[in-house]
Amino acid sequence: MAVGKLMVTPAIADIHHPTPEQTSGPFFPEHNQLDKDADLTRVQGRSGKAEGDVIFVSGKILDVFGNPIEGAAIDIWQANKWGRYDHVDDDNPAPLDPNFQGWARLRSGADGSYSVMTIKPGAYPQEGDWRPPHIHFRVGRRGFRQTITQMYFKGDPLNDKDSILNDIEPKAVRDLLVVDFKAGIGKFDLVLETRRG
Ligand SMILES: [Fe+2]
Repeated sequence: MAVGKLMVTPAIADIHHPTPEQTSGPFFPEHNQLDKDADLTRVQGRSGKAEGDVIFVSGKILDVFGNPIEGAAIDIWQANKWGRYDHVDDDNPAPLDPNFQGWARLRSGADGSYSVMTIKPGAYPQEGDWRPPHIHFRVGRRGFRQTITQMYFKGDPLNDKDSILNDIEPKAVRDLLVVDFKAGIGKFDLVLETRRG
């Protein structure tokens, strides 16, 4: 006997939790720069390499059903090895690194993927405390809600004390922002909600 097609509602387990949002902070790049490619360890026209431990971050931009989002605009920005942003408002006395690109602007591929080579950012002081190493992300695509967030490094002792990270409850959702790097390689997927209305 033929069985008619059923409209199946996806099981809850198949729904990906949207990436939790975080403040963009005061250090989003304030002026354009020539070199915004996926290699933050070198600046176009300079022969030197950025100071710090090289890391690779890659992942996919997905919708809540796990489908890849192609062509998403991805901004990635971060402090250098010493926790200093190349930003006029950063009064951290730590040195600048002229060979560190600090900012990348990318597009996700047909399978939703992106990848960057960068260095592990340093912690930095903020309002009498220390922000753990983190990388800022801003991801946008027409039809989806723009997501601004921060990615953290699993095992960093500063994570547990950071008020911005620990604002996210429950822990299972908070942990979506905490990446377990193995041999300098980390995977960070971002899930965007469909824009309503
Ligand atoms: Fe930051």
